[in-house]
Amino acid sequence: MRITIIGSGYVGLVTATCFSELRHEILCIEKDQKKIEVLKQGKPHIYEPGLEEMLARNLIEKRIFFASSIEEGIDFADVIFLCVGTPQGEDGKADLSQIEEASRQIALHSKDYKLIVEKSTVPVNTFQWVKKTLKRYSRKNIEFDVASNPEFLREGSAVYDFMNPDRIVIGVENERSEKLLRKIYDYFIKKGDNFLVTTPAVSELIKHASNSFLAMKISYINMISELCEKVGADINMVADGMGLDKRIGRSFLNAGIGYGGSCFPKDVKAFIKIAEELGIDFGLLKETEKINKRQRLRFIEKIEDILWISKEKNITIWGLAFKPNTNDIREAPSIDIVSELNRHKANLVLYDPKAMENFKEIFPESQNMKYASNLLDSVNDADALVILTEWDEFANVDLKEIRKRMRLPIIIDARNIYDLKGLKKLDFEYYSIGR
Ligand code: UGA
Repeated sequence: MRITIIGSGYVGLVTATCFSELRHEILCIEKDQKKIEVLKQGKPHIYEPGLEEMLARNLIEKRIFFASSIEEGIDFADVIFLCVGTPQGEDGKADLSQIEEASRQIALHSKDYKLIVEKSTVPVNTFQWVKKTLKRYSRKNIEFDVASNPEFLREGSAVYDFMNPDRIVIGVENERSEKLLRKIYDYFIKKGDNFLVTTPAVSELIKHASNSFLAMKISYINMISELCEKVGADINMVADGMGLDKRIGRSFLNAGIGYGGSCFPKDVKAFIKIAEELGIDFGLLKETEKINKRQRLRFIEKIEDILWISKEKNITIWGLAFKPNTNDIREAPSIDIVSELNRHKANLVLYDPKAMENFKEIFPESQNMKYASNLLDSVNDADALVILTEWDEFANVDLKEIRKRMRLPIIIDARNIYDLKGLKKLDFEYYSIGR
């Protein structure tokens, strides 16, 4: 099928590339001309395992194209996916101006029937506003359908998640939209993947409810980790025990420094706001946010308790991305922690396999802040090593070598990546979360 994708951020670019892999013909519309130039050369502006190869393949086979003109996009296909940003706006409310603008443009320039599919994360009932906007600005006699089809992919495994979905949810109002979406997702339907057909409002709610639930699960385990520290229990074992109950499950029960990234913090806030506007106090989610913030502060306090004075101490930080396998640093805990240590005048050496370039834009290299070119050199003469992201490279490192290079054998680990006994044997002073 021919499909237009508006927006080539994380969701837009991955959706466009994966759809083209499924033999659909895709035109991806992006305002930023610079981004388009690099995308046309097969260079994604984001790091995502498998994406570059898949994009290159489909560019060569001429199934994916990029353009900046939305009018061109509207003419190209009957089905248009909205993958524009819905960032945090005033008071935590989602800022829907890009959704409104895209809907308005589609209304103004459509010459025949269009199905508009919301893929961006939006508050419940946004589809009603999209419909209203289409009606207000369009020529008479042009028919539109609006559907919701939220995306559940995770950064760092976006291509895998898209191609191996737990579920595909579509919210439609009529058979015509359902038929088109079934055709687009035919590969997954035939494969036997879960394909849920519901109303647009339910579909919009499923997205926010899912992300908020996962965020709540993380705050819950972080709260238990605080209890564990008080009584000398190991949070990993508690999580393993809980996870054996199929109703609970082990995933998203990893204690750490709280959730970050471009989704959970924004979506939890937006969901609280949506409820508030409907006259409901979502106290449970407010507490989820509070615990999340406190978990970062507790970690900063932990570093200070361990090092006593951080001024002029050589501290190496491993992991700047908000999670492994991405170069994304949006809402990353590393920003708060590096800021705080910098304020205390520690000598910092930072290392991350993919996110250093992005981090340098916020924290340029300076007298007290250096970026290491490789993992081993980053710990030379360090008084402490602080781990903030659970990259495999850190888990698999030769710790004996690390021990040799450090001035003091202190590791403060926010992601619980090492085995307690193993580190003790190597004579490290090892601190982690909830253990
Ligand atoms: C999240 C959801 O998992 C996706 O399903 C969703 O599509 C996406 O948001 C979105 O709305 O676009 P993502 O933000 O990429 O995906 O990353 P996650 O793997 O969910 O991790 C989010 C945060 O939670 C990270 O900071 C991670 O370190 C933290 N986390 C995750 C924990 O602290 N503990 C865990 O057990 C799991």
